[in-house]
Amino acid sequence: MSTARTPPAHVAIIMDGNGRWAQQHLRPRAFGHKAGRVAVDRVVTACAKVGVKTLSLYAFSTENWRRPPHEVKILMELIETALREEAEKMRKNDIRLRVLGDRTPLSASLCNAIDEAEALTADGTRMNVVLAINYSGQWALCETARRLAQAVARGELQADTINESDFAAHRPMPDLPPVDLLIRSSGEMRLSNFHLWELAYAELWFTDVLWPDFGEAQLDAAFAAYHHRDRRFGALSHT
Ligand code: IPE
Ligand code: IPE
Ligand code: MG
Repeated sequence: MSTARTPPAHVAIIMDGNGRWAQQHLRPRAFGHKAGRVAVDRVVTACAKVGVKTLSLYAFSTENWRRPPHEVKILMELIETALREEAEKMRKNDIRLRVLGDRTPLSASLCNAIDEAEALTADGTRMNVVLAINYSGQWALCETARRLAQAVARGELQADTINESDFAAHRPMPDLPPVDLLIRSSGEMRLSNFHLWELAYAELWFTDVLWPDFGEAQLDAAFAAYHHRDRRFGALSHT
C-alpha cells in the first residue's frame, strides 16, 4: 500500500456485505461474518502501517437487534471472541482499542471482554481503534442531550449558551475526532445511523466490494480518492 501522502486522520468504516458474500459462496451468513473478521484484521494492520490515527469500525448497530436471534447471537459471540483474541496483538502493536455504544443490553461476558481489551490496550499511542457495538448516531446524540441536560440541572452549564464545543464535550466519547473519510463496502450508499455529529464534513467513499473481500487495494483506492478531494469546509478553494 502506498505511503506517499499523509492518510486521513480519522477513517470510519461501515463494514457491510458479509451476508451477501456468504450467499455468493453458498454458505450460511455466519460464514460471511467470520470472513468479515479476517478483513477487520487486515484493515487494522494496513491503517496502522500508513499512519491513520483513528479507525472507527461499525460492528453492530442498534438496529441490528432486528435480525433473527440466531444471527444476533453469532455476531455477539464473534465480537467477544475477536476482542479476546486480538487485544494482546493490538497491545503489542501499540494500538488502543475502545468500544463505543450502549452496553446495557450486552451480556456480562461480552462486557467483561470489552473491559479487559480496553484495559490491556489503554496505553496504545500509535492508533485508536473505536469499535462501535450497539451503537447508532442517534443514540449518541440522545446520550449527549441527556448529559447536557444533567449538566444544566447541576448548574454547570447555561441552556441558552450551549454551543458546538459544549455539545462535543458531552458526547459518549468526547475526544472522538471528526471523521475525515467514511468508507462503506457492498454498494449501499447510506449512513445506516453511524456517526452523525462526527460525519458533518467527512468525505464519503463507496465500493461495491463486499466486506470480506475488502483489503489493502480498496484502502489504497479510497485514500487516493480522498487526496483528490477539495475539502473546503464552507470556505473557498485553496487552488
Ligand atoms: C455487515 O454485513 C455486518 C453487520 C451488519 C453486523 P451484513 O450482515 O449486513 O451483510 P449483508 O448486508 O446482509 O450482505
Ligand atoms: C450497517 O449495516 C451496520 C453495520 C455495518 C454494523 P446494515 O447492513 O445493518 O445496514 P442496512 O440495514 O443495510 O442499512
Ligand atoms: Mg448489511
